[in-house]
This record gives sequence, C-alpha cells and structure tokens, in this order.
Amino acid sequence: MGYCIEMINITKEFPGIIANDNITLQVKKGEIHALLGENGAGKSTLMSVLFGLYQPEKGIIKKDGQEVKIKNPNDANDLGIGMVHQHFKLVENFTVLENIILGMETTEHGVLKMGDARKKVVELSERYNLSIEPDSKIEDITVGMQQRVEILKMLYRENEILIFDEPTAVLTAAEIDELINIMKNLINEGKSIIFITHKLNEIKRAADRCTVLRKGKYIGTVEVAQTSKEELSKMMVGRDVDFEVEKSPSKPGDVILEVKNLSVKSKTSQKSLLNNVSFNVRSGEILSIAGIEGNGQSELVYSITGLMKSSSGEIILSGKNIENESIRNRTLTGMGHIPEDRHKHGLVLDYTLAENMILQTYFKAPFQKNGFLQNDEIEKYSDRLIEEFDVRSGQGSDSIARSMSGGNQQKAIIAREIDRDPMLLVAVQPTRGLDVGAIEYIHKQLVKERDEGRAVLLVSLELDEVMNVSDRIIVIYEGELVGEFKPEEVTVEELGLYMSGSKRREINE
Ligand SMILES: Nc1ncnc2c1ncn2[C@@H]1O[C@H](COP(=O)(O)OP(=O)(O)O)[C@@H](O)[C@H]1O
Ligand SMILES: [Mg+2]
Repeated sequence: MGYCIEMINITKEFPGIIANDNITLQVKKGEIHALLGENGAGKSTLMSVLFGLYQPEKGIIKKDGQEVKIKNPNDANDLGIGMVHQHFKLVENFTVLENIILGMETTEHGVLKMGDARKKVVELSERYNLSIEPDSKIEDITVGMQQRVEILKMLYRENEILIFDEPTAVLTAAEIDELINIMKNLINEGKSIIFITHKLNEIKRAADRCTVLRKGKYIGTVEVAQTSKEELSKMMVGRDVDFEVEKSPSKPGDVILEVKNLSVKSKTSQKSLLNNVSFNVRSGEILSIAGIEGNGQSELVYSITGLMKSSSGEIILSGKNIENESIRNRTLTGMGHIPEDRHKHGLVLDYTLAENMILQTYFKAPFQKNGFLQNDEIEKYSDRLIEEFDVRSGQGSDSIARSMSGGNQQKAIIAREIDRDPMLLVAVQPTRGLDVGAIEYIHKQLVKERDEGRAVLLVSLELDEVMNVSDRIIVIYEGELVGEFKPEEVTVEELGLYMSGSKRREINE
C-alpha cells in the first residue's frame, strides 16, 4: 500500500519548547488519517511544516515515495497539498466565488474569466454535495458554510491531500455529521485526508487510521477499527481515563431553583423560543437539559442568569423571585455560571488571570478598601485558586487570559465560579472543545459540587456527558420540555428520539 505523504523524523523547535520531537506520520493514499493529541501536543505545528509555513530543524518529507522540499504554501499547493486552518482565512466582504478563486484568477486579454470559474465551482459543489451559493458574501453565511468554502478552495486548486485542522470545533452536531459525510465523499473521489481532532467519537466514526502525539512526541499509529476509545485515550493522555464518572447516588434536598411557566418570545417574530417551561433543581443533584443545539437552551440559560428577559413566568432562586434582578444581584443571591461562550461571557481576554478571578467580586472586601483595589489581596486570592484548581499558564496570576489554552481558561472560570460558593451552579457546555484530561477534571468538579449540597444545572449537547454526569435528565425540543428521565432508565438512542421530536411524554414536575 503506497503512502502519499510521509513525514519522517520531523523535529521543529520554538524558543524554549520542542513542539515536534522526532515525529513520523505516514498517510496512505485514499484514507482518512486522524491526528490525535491534547491541546499543545504539536498537531498544528506538524501540519504547518507539511504546508510549508515552518521549516523543520530535522527530518524529511516524501510525496509518493520521493523526497520533496516544501519551502512555502505555494510549494505545498504545487504538490497537491491543501489545508483548512483552525481559524479560516477568508475575506469577509468578498463573495464565496471571489474567495475561492482568489490568487488563481484566470484572465483572457486582461479580463477576468469569471464564467469558467463559476462553472467549475458550481460543478464541484454539486459533485461533493456542498450546496454553496457562489454569490453570497462570507459575512452572511454560517461558520459551517464558510468551512465548505475552504473545502471548495482546495478542490478548485485540485489538491489531493487535504488537511483539516480541528474542523469540528466550530460546528454544531448536525454540521459535524454533514462534514463527516463530505469527508467520506472526498475519499471516494480519490482524495486523502489528514483529520485533526481530539474527539474520540469522531475518530471512531470517520477515520481509518490514527496517529497519536503527546507533548510533542510520536506515540504510535493504529488501525481505528481495531482500537477502542479507551486505548486511544490512554495513548493520548498517557494514563487510563474513566469515561464513567465515579459518583454515588444523589441525595436531593431542598428545591434551590424553581422555574415556573417560563416563556420567551422572539423579538422579530411571534414565534416562541421557550414555551411554558417548568422544572426545578434540588440541592445535591445534577439536572441536565439535553437537546440538539438551538432548541431553546440558550434562551433558558439567558433567562435564568439574567442575560435575557423572559416574556412570562417565574424564576425562583432559594425562595426568592429573581425575575427582575440584575445579573450582579443574581450572582450575589447565590448563582454561579459557567457560560457557553467562555470568550464572550466568561473572561475578559485582555485582562490578567488575577483580574479575571475577581470579575464579580472586585467591589467587595478584601479586594477593595476605601475605593482602591487591593492588588496584594487579589494576587493572593488568584494564586490560591490557581494552585487549588491546577490552572496552568506561562506567568501565573499575571498571565493574560488570551494567551492561555482553552482548557486552562475553562479551569479558571470554574475555579472562580465554584469558589464563590453558589447554591446553584449553571454549567453550559462546560467541556466543549476540551481534551480528555480536562473533561475528566471538570466532570469531577461538578460531582464534587453536588456532593457538597449544591444544585447543578448542566446544559449539554454531548449525550455521553449527559448520561455519565447527571442524576436527572430533561429533554428540550423546540422550546418545550418533552421528557424527563433517570440516566439508568434510558438509552442514548431513546434520548435521541425525544431530542429529535419523534417522541414526547409528560414531565412529572
Ligand atoms: N509560533 C510559535 N511560537 C512559539 N511556540 C509555539 C508556536 N506555535 C506553537 N507553539 C508551541 O508549540 C506547542 C505545540 O503547539 P501546537 O502545534 O499548536 O499544538 P496543537 O495543535 O496540538 O494544540 C505548544 O506548546 C505551543 O505553545
Ligand atoms: Mg492546534
């Protein structure tokens, strides 16, 4: 079986770190080859070497068995190598078509031959089932569609080896399914794919073989069909990981959060985004809201946390109606919030870690005295949280939040929210985009909060997470609650039927 790409003994150093330490990657023609590793393992660096963005200190690259030199992305393109970067590189106010042909414009007597280009783009879009509209502006289309434009760019350039750097991180569950189908079509048409991800489910579903990196080192290459998720995960993190979250049966106590007949109407239409939703969460239990993205979860969380006003209904926290309270008062009443968008609502990215740790409490003692921030106290407090929650960063409390990895940003938010000792912890997609080690850590923290008598409301799109972490599950569909379950009484398949609107039953509350 021929290899189309071989990267042999590649070493690439940055000041102070060996990002790739003697790594070998061999990709067979016509396969989907997953590249797996935790954040910082060296995946993007290795792909940047293949794409000509970095020159390695050591190692060689072969294309179809012949050694090649790839000095820049043009060399890569000439060798048929294309890449969809983690952050897309599209021009926002150009159309889809303009973006695709950018840098490849064919002219006749100095006039752009748009007609030919359009024909080729439309033909490719149809052949690979991409359904793109050539004349839409990039800024007007979804992230999923933008990604397809990047795919079309590679196809337009007739690239044969397609690199996808964490393509699913930005997608919804439905878009992920579609992307995996597109990748399989690409393989059927003779392309070869390198697929970077740290989601084991996706590797299981899409990839033929998988190469694992850990801390810049090559760990191994396996046949995916013959390797369990547990084995893959062990290779990735270097130890056994529990997919089962260890926990004792819950001992629910008093009702902490009571949501009564809550409705939210859309501003632009009469459509209701949330329709007459009622449920409660008790101390000592983890209640999950399961559902497919966009079924009212965000509106529910925004109403509870104060980011959005509901049209009718009541929200009662520890016996107090908080419907008209400010976000700050809700926080002070005893609510912690791990938000879905950690960059928009969780952290101020240009602040230091220490400043981020006191975002809701900076006006209180001991952080403030006579109107002045007490930097020593703030630093001391932040240092303690960093230590206790194992938040890793370059410069501790002085690190700028933006410079930290996603997993450590999330740990910082969790440290802050838990340490304020809230009665209710609202956690929305708390493990999205994180690696297995960080996921395991966060699940343990949620269970610990529960065991200490807090009420935990978990909103998650990941069914594995819902099944493993919760004591009780409520399914939301088109803004309504359509079923309530205990995780041990229901299967993932059955939950899926409720989530997709195929089944519903009365809620007990
Ligand atoms: N341009 C760079 N300069 C300095 N260090 C870098 C650079 N790019 C990546 N690194 C470091 O190299 C390591 C590997 O990073 P990366 O290849 O991005 O990992 P991954 O894609 O697996 O998350 C990390 O420790 C990262 O901080
Ligand atoms: Mg990366």
